[in-house]
Amino acid sequence: MVSDRWRRFYEERDYDHCIYREGETMIEYLATFCEQIGIPETVLSVGCGPAVLELELAERFPNTEFTCVDVADRVIEDGRERASEQGLENVEFVVGALPALDLERQFDLVYCMATTYFVRDVDAAFATLYEHVELGGYLVADYPSEALGEWVAEQDEHTQAFFELVAAGENIWTRDEIATLFDDSVEDYGEAVGAADTLTHAIYLEKS
Ligand SMILES: C[S@@+](CC[C@H](N)C(=O)[O-])C[C@H]1O[C@@H](n2cnc3c(N)ncnc32)[C@H](O)[C@@H]1O
Repeated sequence: MVSDRWRRFYEERDYDHCIYREGETMIEYLATFCEQIGIPETVLSVGCGPAVLELELAERFPNTEFTCVDVADRVIEDGRERASEQGLENVEFVVGALPALDLERQFDLVYCMATTYFVRDVDAAFATLYEHVELGGYLVADYPSEALGEWVAEQDEHTQAFFELVAAGENIWTRDEIATLFDDSVEDYGEAVGAADTLTHAIYLEKS
């Protein structure tokens, strides 16, 4: 399973504390988005990885509670330790895996970046993410697109193995197909945060 690969990835190496998609600019993009919609009281980040963005925003927005979820226990334990070292009391870490996540609560903002690439049932994953959005709240997420598939095809074998579902074309979705999953209208997240050229295949919606 792809998620086992991620568990091993974090267990076997001294991984970088980085943001895998677009690097630290993603922090500014999400901060900009939060300022546009009004600073959320609660944020759920699914597939948080090393939680660089989440820990930084938890510091900037001390009145916002962040819940960070990842399938890999190691990165979750590490996130907990770093939050404690930084004296952050508004971040919690939970092990969980899409598409079956059930936190039995909803959030003002649900964020899921560079993670559905590794999930076979992208539609079920998006249904789960959406279920966790409070009415009037927002979902921000990207999805495995054809453009991602083209990028994966140019990578080495090791990277292709990580992205095995995308490499095999088994979980590729288009923006229009993603939009059909929701009754709410789906907008372009890259455009919203002034990064339409680089931040492609990322959407947001307001749950009505
Ligand atoms: C490429 S990293 C992205 C991390 C972070 N969101 C970022 O943008 O830097 C993908 C993360 O998704 C996690 N992941 C993979 N499959 C998952 C699943 N089914 N449910 C939850 N997390 C998953 C991995 O453990 C990994 O931390």
